[in-house]
Amino acid sequence: MEDEEGSEYGKPDFVLLDQVTMEDFMRNLQLRFEKGRIYTYIGEVLVSVNPYQELPLYGPEAIARYQGRELYERPPHLYAVANAAYKAMKHRSRDTCIVISGESGAGKTEASKHIMQYIAAVTNPSQRAEVERVKDVLLKSTCVLEAFGNARTNRNHNSSRFGKYMDINFDFKGDPIGGHIHSYLLEKSRVLKQHVGERNFHAFYQLLRGSEDKQLHELHLDRNPAVYNFTRQGAGLNMTVHSALDSDERSHQAVIEAMRVIGFSPEEVESVYRILAAILHLGNIEFVETEEDGPQKEGLAVAEEALVDRVAELTATPRDLVLRSLLARTVASGGRELIEKGHTAAEASYARDACAKAVYQRLFEWVVNRINSVMEPRDRDPRRDGKDTVIGVLDIYGFEVFPVNSFEQFCINYCNEKLQQLFIRLILKQEQEEYEREGITWQSVEYFNNAIIVDLVERPHRGILAVLDEACSSAGTITDRIFLQTLDTHHRHHLHYTSRQLCPTDKTMEFGRDFRIKHYAGDVTYSVEGFIDKNRDFLFQDFKRLLYNSTDPTLRAMWPDGQQDITEVTKRPLTAGTLFKNSMVALVENLASKEPFYVRCIKPNEDKVAGKLDENHCRHQVAYLGLLENVRVRRAGFASRQPYSRFLLRYKMTCEYTWPNHLLGSDKAAVSALLEQHGLQGDVAFGHSKLFIRSPRTLVTLEQSRARLIPIIVLLLQKAWRGTLARWRCRRLRAVYTIMRWFRRHKVRAHLAELQRRFQAARQPPLYGRDLVWPLPPAVLQPFQDTCHTLFCRWRARQLVKNIPPSDMAQIKAKVAAMATLQGLRQDWGCRRAWARDYLSSAADNPTASGLFAQRLKTLRDKDGFGAVLFSSHVRKVNRFRKIRNRALLLTDRHLYKLDPDRQYRVMRAVPLEAVSNVGFGQCAASARGTAGLPGALPQSSPLRTGRGRRGEGRALEVRVSDCIPLSQRGTRRLVSVEPRPEQPEPDFRCARGTFTLLWPSR
Ligand SMILES: Nc1ncnc2c1ncn2[C@@H]1O[C@H](COP(=O)(O)OP(=O)(O)OP(=O)(O)O)[C@@H](O)[C@H]1O
Ligand SMILES: [Mg+2]
Repeated sequence: MEDEEGSEYGKPDFVLLDQVTMEDFMRNLQLRFEKGRIYTYIGEVLVSVNPYQELPLYGPEAIARYQGRELYERPPHLYAVANAAYKAMKHRSRDTCIVISGESGAGKTEASKHIMQYIAAVTNPSQRAEVERVKDVLLKSTCVLEAFGNARTNRNHNSSRFGKYMDINFDFKGDPIGGHIHSYLLEKSRVLKQHVGERNFHAFYQLLRGSEDKQLHELHLDRNPAVYNFTRQGAGLNMTVHSALDSDERSHQAVIEAMRVIGFSPEEVESVYRILAAILHLGNIEFVETEEDGPQKEGLAVAEEALVDRVAELTATPRDLVLRSLLARTVASGGRELIEKGHTAAEASYARDACAKAVYQRLFEWVVNRINSVMEPRDRDPRRDGKDTVIGVLDIYGFEVFPVNSFEQFCINYCNEKLQQLFIRLILKQEQEEYEREGITWQSVEYFNNAIIVDLVERPHRGILAVLDEACSSAGTITDRIFLQTLDTHHRHHLHYTSRQLCPTDKTMEFGRDFRIKHYAGDVTYSVEGFIDKNRDFLFQDFKRLLYNSTDPTLRAMWPDGQQDITEVTKRPLTAGTLFKNSMVALVENLASKEPFYVRCIKPNEDKVAGKLDENHCRHQVAYLGLLENVRVRRAGFASRQPYSRFLLRYKMTCEYTWPNHLLGSDKAAVSALLEQHGLQGDVAFGHSKLFIRSPRTLVTLEQSRARLIPIIVLLLQKAWRGTLARWRCRRLRAVYTIMRWFRRHKVRAHLAELQRRFQAARQPPLYGRDLVWPLPPAVLQPFQDTCHTLFCRWRARQLVKNIPPSDMAQIKAKVAAMATLQGLRQDWGCRRAWARDYLSSAADNPTASGLFAQRLKTLRDKDGFGAVLFSSHVRKVNRFRKIRNRALLLTDRHLYKLDPDRQYRVMRAVPLEAVSNVGFGQCAASARGTAGLPGALPQSSPLRTGRGRRGEGRALEVRVSDCIPLSQRGTRRLVSVEPRPEQPEPDFRCARGTFTLLWPSR
């Protein structure tokens, strides 16, 4: 802060004054005011002096400079206070309130507008539509409320004539999601009459000056305010003297636009202006006493009946009823009979005025409620959205002293007494009491406690309001004068009450009319005239019923109590004073439940001019606002206090002795160690249960070092949490694997058990488990099962083979070899037959020539030296000249011979076995005459075709099985096709056009 403001601007915080005297205080205030520094702190309380001129202190740039900063970081400003309240609300979830106080014209309303602008500017970065809407309504509501609730007074050209407390609701993200306005005691007597130099509420002049001719014509209005009794007094006055921009004309447009933005329907806006016009016309109605009887009841008449027509038209009520309500009242007699009683001219005027006031008040309340209905937070569910937090802004009428002060000033000043009480309670008294309780060495500061004045006003039975209520409820004609006498009797010895009767020498008070209260802010003389009447706030039921029965829904909605029948209206309504007192008690309780921030506004001069600071005037305000005491308490006191445990919880990470948990004897000792490490022990005091920190700077130092450590702690937490998550996952995986392992084991065991069960019978001959089905193994057992299967097959083969006699083994081996070559290729390869091989030597197969063949065989064995005859048979051969011849075939383990059976089996050709490269078979093989799988007709060259197979290459003999056997006859390629024929007795060949067909005797 010092960086931005040099010492030439004085002290930015009155706490920094060298001496706390009124002179020093005023000097600093004056110095700063002259240099354009209108804001100064007292700790966290902001003192603001109205500059009465536009200063370059506001706007988006200024807002950006204060956003997110600490209070002391920048020069004192409203934005800093708004920011502090917002931060407390957002970061600590505390409901906060900003109480703006000061006398009329001190700048409270302007301050509240700047606060709202700040809050609107720093919220809703994500531009949510609903939040934008709420902000729009919040900002625009001020304009509408000022039109209907503000008026020009001698003290302030835009004086709020009602109290306003606005709650702004925020969601957990800190965005405004709604709001609510409470309004307090509108000064409705202003509708009827204003002091010299003052005006009625702005809305009337805005309507007359700002409306188009057409609209005025429809409302039967004249543009000149002087035409109407209610606006005549202020007709020559403008809205403000400072800014030509704020003319009634422009304001009218702005208000209509604001109403549109807020959500008033065009019909509602029309109704509002019709009601205003009706009030103006009502004000012009005069009554005259007439001699003759007749329709004019009791001899009273309205001077200008056209006005009644207009009122009836504008309020959408029957003309006759309007007239009747103006001239008479309905009363319920003892027997609950209704009697119409005519007014006197004075009574009628009174009733007319009461009606005008009440209509305006209801209109104002309706406007407030309408805005509230639009701002109400919508669809909030605390379980889903979290708890809402609230910032309240209180802009309530300041302390007022007029030449003649009436009931309204009495209420307003009582309100200020209550707020001063709250200030004392929160800032002065509570603080000092806490120091004492905590055993902090403390020099008590004297201050004036205004509880005694509050008590004078609101005490039950004897307080001024109670006496007034009693006067109002008494039957008979209790006058204001009698009320004053009762007050005098009750408060004769009260230090803060006096009257002319009690102090006859004081000529400033009028006898029998005035009483004086010594308020905390100064003496105010009140005139009791009208007190009873204003307190009773009476309006005949006839008017309520009349307006309730209006066909205008907006007007009708303002008068729900009009539906009561006169006979039902028995209970006396609460008086205006009691209602006001109750609302003040509720307000103070509400404020006390929140964390308060104070803005104390000072009005620099009575002339509303810029650059002038009237010392006496200001000194008076400084005195009664208790600012000097505030400085003293603040200087002697401490900026912050926290229970040790809470302090540790927040800052323990900044010190090695306290992080993560301390081992010292008590929290107090731990806090002391922490502060010593930071070197801050000189700026604190240790209470019994709390730590008191003198300057905010200490707090900020701690906050900064905390902020530096938070990311590291977050990382630590993240690390630990991630580790935990990983460990959980690992444990789960392990469990999964254990389950899987046990399951697999179970599957393997179950499978083995099943195998065992199924194969129990496998040892039984003769099948040895041939038909057993192997169960499907788990994947892991597949190789095992394959091996088992192989072993089983071998075992089974062994069981089968071991019973075969050795003499059959050669046969078996041959069959195995044939199977290896032919199985699957030929349907039948003679597996089931015994193979004799040497069929030509067998007398059974070759009865005529077996002897001859045996001789030839002996000759050949001697010559070629072969070991065994593998095969012999007669065959048919077809040569290249298509001649078909009988031949014999002999296969030994060394040669393949072609023999001529007709010439004692003479050898026609011998081919060594190594030279045979392949053998061809037809598909339909069957042995004719037991030729054991070889075709009965074997052409010379094929299917046992001799080729030049290369010996010794270890190449397997190629075996082809087909019904179309290719062969080569001396270089000519031919095909032999096989044709099965049932009638064919023996296999034979047929030759036609170069092709051979083997005719096969099929069965
Ligand atoms: N910060 C400011 N900058 C410029 N002008 C200001 C400032 N504050 C107040 N004013 C001027 O002072 C006038 C009165 O201020 P404001 O209406 O806020 O007073 P108030 O305290 O609300 O009075 P009342 O109690 O009568 O409502 C404003 O109309 C405006 O002209
Ligand atoms: Mg105001």
